[in-house]
Amino acid sequence: MIRPALSGLVPYEPGKPVEEVQRELGLDRVVKLASNEGPYGPFPAAQEAITRATPELNRYPDGGAWRLRHALAERHGVGFENVTVCAGADAVIGFTCLATLDPGDEAITGWPSFPSYVLDPLKLGGVPVRVPLRDDRFDLEAILAAVTPRTKLVFIAAPNNPTGTTSTRTEFEAYFARVPAHVLTVVDQAYFEYVDELDYPDAIEEFLKAGHNVLVLRTFSKIFGLAGLRVGYGVGSEEVVTAIGKVRRAFDVGSAGQEAALASLGETDEIIRRREANRTAMVSLDHVLRDHGLNPVGPAVANFVFVRVGTALALNDALLGQGVVVRPMGPFGAADALRITAGAPDEIAFLKRALDAVSVLDTIAST
Ligand SMILES: Cc1ncc(COP(=O)(O)O)c(C=O)c1O
Repeated sequence: MIRPALSGLVPYEPGKPVEEVQRELGLDRVVKLASNEGPYGPFPAAQEAITRATPELNRYPDGGAWRLRHALAERHGVGFENVTVCAGADAVIGFTCLATLDPGDEAITGWPSFPSYVLDPLKLGGVPVRVPLRDDRFDLEAILAAVTPRTKLVFIAAPNNPTGTTSTRTEFEAYFARVPAHVLTVVDQAYFEYVDELDYPDAIEEFLKAGHNVLVLRTFSKIFGLAGLRVGYGVGSEEVVTAIGKVRRAFDVGSAGQEAALASLGETDEIIRRREANRTAMVSLDHVLRDHGLNPVGPAVANFVFVRVGTALALNDALLGQGVVVRPMGPFGAADALRITAGAPDEIAFLKRALDAVSVLDTIAST
């Protein structure tokens, strides 16, 4: 009954809800630093928009996300037909695979990276090709060397989840100068708004508008604080966006999500404030970890760090016992590492107290 392509896959195992962890372990407080969400809620204008949308939730949403698509097209200076809005950037990844991959077609990505780049091709009988990171960064030269006539997709996470590092403008330019035209490159900029490095490119402006075969991903899940509503989008050629439109579900994004995303687009000052708060949080997270003998990978330019700790599960469990939920990196292909999101200042202080309590080096040494 079940397709053979699924035989090697395991169902996604979500972490336990925070309330459940709290109850099971009898903890007063649990801090979740596991999923790279922003620590702050939706913008006030988005919260108002959600409230305004509530009385009409008996209606189906606008399946075409017409107003949001128009607003995004205007914001990025592209056509309406160049924007697809889906239930998170994750859904755009899935629909892109569905629109492009026949069994046996290859999709290349760096590794470790975002698991959907591997899982979504596998679901379709496609062949994921994992090119090891070099110095914890995407190795675009090695990715180019892995391209074959069967390569349909290349996924580049910039910044990369889980390492937090990014490819630079110069590296991208060298890549786009050589990548064959039959390859669609998906540049995933889920953390775009957090990054202010000068050599970090806006892939829509710099690569899509330059005519490269590229689909750029963005999301409202991170700095905009809307992860729970599931709104992300892709900006690409009309051909690719139209193909995604053929496979995407008719009502992929709910009305509250569409309204909240629209209302968030105007809040530029708040984005700047959150970006700065995140930068401060990243510095203090780095200090806290280093003070405990840990050495996070860098430069990490988004809102999380990746740190090798030996057998990650021991420290993970010890932190959990103190009420801090971080993410062990086994499913990302790095069983020796943890990923830790930069939370709000009081959450980082809580992490510091937890690390003090668990005696990091003893925990690692005992594994
Ligand atoms: C690199 C990357 N791409 C995509 C996503 C998915 O984002 P969304 O919540 O929009 O589905 C994430 C989420 O963690 C991510 O890290």
